[in-house]
Amino acid sequence: MGKQRVLTGITTSGTPHLGNYAGAIRPAVAASRQADVESFYFLADYHSLIKAQDPARVQRSTLEIAAAWLACGLDPDRVWFYRQSDVPEIPELNWLLTCVAGKGILNRAHAYKAAVDKNLAEGSDPDAGVSAGLFMYPVLMAADILLFGAHTVPVGRDQVQHIEMARDFGARFNHLYGGEHFVLPEAAVEESVATLPGLDGRKMSKSYDNTIPLFADAATLKKLIMGLVTDSRAPGEAKDTEGSALFQLYQAFATPEQTEAMRAEFAAGIAWGEAKLRLFEAVDAEIAPMRERYNALMADPARIEAVLQAGAAKARAIATPRLRELRHAVGLRNLAEAASAAAPAVAEKTALPVFKQYREKDGRFYFKLSQANGDTLLQSRGFDNPREAGAFLGKIKAEGKAAWQALREVAELAEAVQESQVLDALEAICREAVEAEAP
Ligand code: TRP
Repeated sequence: MGKQRVLTGITTSGTPHLGNYAGAIRPAVAASRQADVESFYFLADYHSLIKAQDPARVQRSTLEIAAAWLACGLDPDRVWFYRQSDVPEIPELNWLLTCVAGKGILNRAHAYKAAVDKNLAEGSDPDAGVSAGLFMYPVLMAADILLFGAHTVPVGRDQVQHIEMARDFGARFNHLYGGEHFVLPEAAVEESVATLPGLDGRKMSKSYDNTIPLFADAATLKKLIMGLVTDSRAPGEAKDTEGSALFQLYQAFATPEQTEAMRAEFAAGIAWGEAKLRLFEAVDAEIAPMRERYNALMADPARIEAVLQAGAAKARAIATPRLRELRHAVGLRNLAEAASAAAPAVAEKTALPVFKQYREKDGRFYFKLSQANGDTLLQSRGFDNPREAGAFLGKIKAEGKAAWQALREVAELAEAVQESQVLDALEAICREAVEAEAP
């Protein structure tokens, strides 16, 4: 068995802050040093275009983020570190996946749905201001992941749905074209990693405007930390560590012993000013050497560009042959070889679950979902009109197992049926529908 592949994308927007460092960069750099993994870290600059449309800022942010990761110790000789837009196989795979991705699944993506809900709440057209790029975001992300055969994708909770979609698109492709073309990735949500509070005590985030830039110079860093919110307890009064942003930040940069010592100082009534000073010292001790490397890198963008170019070559050494296989799999082939090419192995079709509609003596309309062998999986309640009942078949075809949420409101599992059996059946119907519709 090959090594475990771990892959994650870094959206190139904004300037890296301490929260990014403790939550993503530091753990990723540590993980990349393990011997038994192959790590892929890339700058998701195509993704950034969905939000950032100021070219100068796109370039600036890409430079800053690349410099930050390198300054924090990511070793480009050891990992695959590249820029998404340098790997043309990614957008090419994006299209192949677009043609198997269910639109109904994309309709359910959280980011897209949030935009639609906001529009509806404002009384606007549901898709007002929504670009097709935002809508297609999960497919591009699936291409990033599936191209390199990643087993594990470390992400934040908000990204888990995207990884599930990548699995779904990969599984559909495997099924449709017969074969294990894609590894189906798993999300890894690291619970133990620090989420840092920002200057106002809420989660540190660009959208709250409460961040501490990772590589602010020492004087600025100190000033920002001295402005951190605290309660109004006077020196000498005991202070709570619980819920203290200062304490949480300190913990993220101090050793366990230092943290315990600080806990005791809180109880003994350390003055806030003094505690802030200690926090500044702890942060600065860890960041200062990296800051120096960062500043040197930022002064030499050509060096960063060269690192990324080398990274792209290394990534394409994998991506180019992969795409050759995938093009062949879907039938984008050299015509001269057509005559000799054997017929592709057709994916074996197992008997499909059946969706049946009927009318009962009560005059109402029902549907049920059964296994091919006739066993009932799901039984609906009565509907006043046949269209209402029938619409659920369309929903299943479009959304597969994502339709379950809506189905469970109108139907019940038959006795002794597991939810997972229904999900499998929904998937099977949906896959079949995608195949049948392929022109
Ligand atoms: N969407 C991810 C984020 O906002 C960034 C990303 C793009 C990504 N492509 C990816 C993460 C592939 C993991 C794998 O954080």
